[in-house]
Amino acid sequence: MDKAVSGFSKLSKEEKIEWIANRYFSEPTGAISLLKNYWNADEKLQKLHDDFIENTVTNFYLPLGIAPNFLINSKFFTVPMVIEESSVVAAASKAAKFWAERGGFKATVLNTEKIGQVHFIFKGETSLLENFFTKNKSLFFKETENITKNMQKRGGGILDIVLKNKTDLLPNYYQLHATFETKDSMGANFINSCLEQFAKTLKNLAQEEKDFNEEQKNLQVVMSILSNYVPNCIVRAEVSCRVEDLADNKKTNPQEFAEKFVRAVQIAEVEPYRAVTHNKGIMNGIDAVVLATGNDFRAVEAGIHAFAAKSGKYTSLSHAKIEDGIFSFWIEIPLALGTVGGLTSLHPLVKFALEMLEKPSAKELMQIVAVAGLAQNFAALKSLTTTGIQEGHMKMHLGNIINQFEATDTERLQIVNHFENHPVSHAAVVAYIENLRKIKL
Ligand code: MEV
Repeated sequence: MDKAVSGFSKLSKEEKIEWIANRYFSEPTGAISLLKNYWNADEKLQKLHDDFIENTVTNFYLPLGIAPNFLINSKFFTVPMVIEESSVVAAASKAAKFWAERGGFKATVLNTEKIGQVHFIFKGETSLLENFFTKNKSLFFKETENITKNMQKRGGGILDIVLKNKTDLLPNYYQLHATFETKDSMGANFINSCLEQFAKTLKNLAQEEKDFNEEQKNLQVVMSILSNYVPNCIVRAEVSCRVEDLADNKKTNPQEFAEKFVRAVQIAEVEPYRAVTHNKGIMNGIDAVVLATGNDFRAVEAGIHAFAAKSGKYTSLSHAKIEDGIFSFWIEIPLALGTVGGLTSLHPLVKFALEMLEKPSAKELMQIVAVAGLAQNFAALKSLTTTGIQEGHMKMHLGNIINQFEATDTERLQIVNHFENHPVSHAAVVAYIENLRKIKL
């Protein structure tokens, strides 16, 4: 069996690269130069990126694409998207344009409450713990004043702390369940700092509680951590228009299109296999903007999917209807985002993205992100229920294959012309390029 490496983190960046190259690559020099090719020539900038995480050896690029023409609450936005999947930015741009011509998107933040919990074990009567908590509740606020004072100045802070009895789920399991308002920050650091202080306060107060026995005085705090499930931090995005206005070319029968579209959404509402893919399409838009604006896409993903399953059955995040000749399509999702703190003031491209969005508040960013998700979903369902998804995908795919083969401009033109009228598949394109090059020889 291989031996584990020890002290890897203590090696310099160069030494780490050498270690990897020598251990895993038949041509270590090639591996080393590949990693170094991705270093930024600007040493200060490189150091900034090195320091985001641990054991950094190089940068890993993802494209930053731009989707213009998003009309949201009567204001135009140019939306930054970081994503590796072809067609997503094109689809977003197309959907944005389509809806800009039909009144645009409406978006509303319904609430902004964040949640954190101290999970602990208390062996005793619940009423004993309840009395203890009621008597001491104000101290939890008081002992976090140092942490909350800045947030309070910005209009945020701890909203409430409640004791939750969870002993029906796990013996002796209780929580301090706290709610927070974190204004323009995502609030993870703020919430976790408050929670860790709550845990200290809880333990200290328990030690001093004269009604507790020895075991109760030593109640066990298992952990203190924010929840990425934020069902009371919800944004709604919607579009609507007269059914007849849905036609975007002479071939479209708008009534048929609207009905099929609504049916496609209904399928995602009732069928979890479809709902997952339907929501994945929504996340194409959401994650791309969340990443571009330096927010935590894993937190967003986890929270949104939990929300999609809140009824006990995983279902569609978006909904659609036709009523009195009006087509409406909407989404309501939980989103805990920040436009200050974290990466937002560190990563130069995140700063760029936020500036391009005209420095939105967290609430405005929630609206933009939800709209990006809805737009993406609209584009996907429009393709799926009309031409099928492969047509657009394959066009983009074609471009990728052309790049992979480093086609010249003349070759590129010939390939694109040929595949205007022929079905695109990886094999077909490769065969065509090879043939083209053979003919030239
Ligand atoms: C592909 O990334 C996303 C779609 O599968 C979404 C959907 O099926 O609705 C096209």
